[in-house]
Amino acid sequence: MPSDVRLIDPFDPDPELIRHAGDLIRSGKLVAIPTETVYGLGANAFDPTAAERIYAAKGRPSTNPLIVHVADQSVVRRVAGSWPETAARLATAFWPGPLTMVVPRGSRVPDAVTAGQSTVAIRCPNHPVARAVIAAAGVPVAAPSANRSGGLSPTTAAHVVASLGSAVDLVLDAGPCHGGLESTVIDLTRPVPRLLRPGLVRIGMLEAIVGRVEVGTHAASEDEVQASPGMLARHYAPATRLEIAESDAEADALVGIYSRAGIRVVRWKAVGTAEEVAKTLYANLHTLDESGYDRIIATLPPDSEEWHAVRDRLTRAAAEK
Ligand code: TXA
Ligand code: MG
Repeated sequence: MPSDVRLIDPFDPDPELIRHAGDLIRSGKLVAIPTETVYGLGANAFDPTAAERIYAAKGRPSTNPLIVHVADQSVVRRVAGSWPETAARLATAFWPGPLTMVVPRGSRVPDAVTAGQSTVAIRCPNHPVARAVIAAAGVPVAAPSANRSGGLSPTTAAHVVASLGSAVDLVLDAGPCHGGLESTVIDLTRPVPRLLRPGLVRIGMLEAIVGRVEVGTHAASEDEVQASPGMLARHYAPATRLEIAESDAEADALVGIYSRAGIRVVRWKAVGTAEEVAKTLYANLHTLDESGYDRIIATLPPDSEEWHAVRDRLTRAAAEK
């Protein structure tokens, strides 16, 4: 049976539908929810069976922990074991918003959510539908991106349905997500905070609040990959093979070589501001994926802080399987 997909107005969400979504989550079902970054696959974060259904629906390795979504900072005490002062300051600055903080785990959060780790990732999203559903559920909501593991994150409800099919009990369709890339992830359990995944909250913005932040987005060891599997070199990838060019000249050369060899090749290049490109990157790659090309040649945008997240996702999409 196909999932139940319901349109919902992000500016004036239907209270009845919100209540229905909250009831489903509380009773252990999976609901795909729009957030300001990408669509999430939500389940009751206090229910280990519901969390396991997320892993099954995504084909996600049980070693990759989930982000717990809260309606506001007051709920954090039900999820975190302790709340570092750096977390409180960052929450004041950036929540609700696209920032996920890794902190010591509280005892109510099951192993199924944290992949057995002693830490938990928490985020308070800034999308009226996400916030309303979490509030209606009355429990924190574990939600990874609503796609099959390893693939492109969904920025529309159609992407969710194409990737997860009938594995979702309800899909709330509020139109395209305006952020377009997954949240920034920062680990606050270390002496110096560590950036695990770049996103729309950039490192300079974090450093303005908590001082120096280490960049740890490329795992230095196997242990680190286990601690945050989003650090895996290959992630966020389209099905079509994607290759990186460092410049337009290199992209031209690659296109020439492949075209002469009869390989159907298409180019992708950043056009617009970093925010504009982040918003449409996954939608562009989803479209190219469906267009029957053999290869995507993506020209990397400049190596500057504002482009950090877009470069990170493209580089991971290009990594060998
Ligand atoms: O924008 C987002 O964050 C979206 C929306 C739905 O909120 N969610 C999302 O979730 O991107 P997911 O599961 O696709 O990515 C979660 C990332 C992974 O890289 C995971 O390894 C990392 O967060 N993570 C989760 N818990 C962690 C923990 N305790 N320690 C370190 N990394 C953690
Ligand atoms: Mg994901």
